Amino acid sequence: MSAVLAEAADAAKAPAAVSGIAMVLLGTGVVGGALLKLLNTPAAASLRLVGAANSRRQQTDSAQLADRGLREKLKTQGDPRNDVSLLASLDASGAAVKVIIDATANAGLAARHAEWLAKGYHVVTANKALAGGELPGWRALQAATANGARYGDAATVGAGLPVLSTLRRLRGCGDALLTLEGVFSGSLSYLFNQYDGSQPFSALLREARKLGYTEPDPRSDLSGEDVARKLLIIARNAGFALGTDEVEVESLVPEALRDVDTETFLSRLEELDAPLAARHAEAKARGGVLRFLARLNQRGRARVGLVEVPATHPAARLYGTDNQFALTTTRYHSQPLVIQGPGAGPEVTAQALLGDVLALA
Ligand SMILES: NC(=O)c1ccc[n+]([C@@H]2O[C@H](COP(=O)([O-])OP(=O)(O)OC[C@H]3O[C@@H](n4cnc5c(N)ncnc54)[C@H](OP(=O)(O)O)[C@@H]3O)[C@@H](O)[C@H]2O)c1
Repeated sequence: MSAVLAEAADAAKAPAAVSGIAMVLLGTGVVGGALLKLLNTPAAASLRLVGAANSRRQQTDSAQLADRGLREKLKTQGDPRNDVSLLASLDASGAAVKVIIDATANAGLAARHAEWLAKGYHVVTANKALAGGELPGWRALQAATANGARYGDAATVGAGLPVLSTLRRLRGCGDALLTLEGVFSGSLSYLFNQYDGSQPFSALLREARKLGYTEPDPRSDLSGEDVARKLLIIARNAGFALGTDEVEVESLVPEALRDVDTETFLSRLEELDAPLAARHAEAKARGGVLRFLARLNQRGRARVGLVEVPATHPAARLYGTDNQFALTTTRYHSQPLVIQGPGAGPEVTAQALLGDVLALA
């Protein structure tokens, strides 16, 4: 048998898993839990989970990892958290492609992304804290991906709507982003799509929170900080090296409620009502509506906040928790390229993570 044929025969005999993709999952919350469900579907048959962790415990035992009750069990069982042994189980997998999936919002873990990439692990993330954080972190990320390790970031913006991939494709063709505008938060989209002045904003906010459309502490949404992080991620991917201090952020949380505990904040939601009712009435009198928009102009000026837009504006015609990203580029110039759709939700976000992992094959 020739050397080439012998090699092919050996490859055919080798278990597919050894040359495949091995993963560890950090975070088994809403998104991580949805990803674990997807990992049990045929779409993920070629992938091997070799570790999973929440903030306190982790599991690297293959039988336990295959258990459909893994997420629940991790709440009370498993080894104490230790990144070193999770990475060791990736190394011991013998897989050709080793992936760390970050489904947390933990800044400490995000700060390690560049180090992991530099060591040759691929990172797939829903965690925005590095790419949407301080500029040196973004720069470290760029340097760390120069050696071929890949950074899967589809889940960080629009819960996997094809925004970053489209932008990169356009840039690859020599196109350039000129301006960006849109609604980047599912919860703020819902709140202002619904708010018509017929009920107090606080009542709507309580309802949205009950439906799971906001974070348990809605200030995470209302502060605009999450939208600002998404704006930074898109802008940086488009070549605007913006610092966090270069995004003007309008918070909807009154000053007096910014530092109180969650319970106190929730008991004083009515303090949001009067200023928003006044702005709504003014907008309505001019035939406009309020939308929480992110904007980046041609000079790199970035702003996130509440804006009055005319009823004919694309953002005035959004539904539910839809996100919208309007990209004006050198080639999409007279009309922007608009990407719109559900920009939140565990299944679509988990699917974005899975898609980024599968793209490494
Ligand atoms: N929910 C959505 O629709 C959505 C959409 C797009 C993007 N995202 C992003 O996805 C990420 C996860 O969101 P989520 O809604 O799933 O949050 P979540 O339900 O609060 O879950 C977060 C998970 O991270 C774990 N965690 C925290 N620190 C950790 C650490 N050091 N090591 C390992 N695990 C750690 C938590 O562990 P414990 O259980 O022990 O606390 C929890 O399991 C966030 O960055 C979020 O912004 C979410």
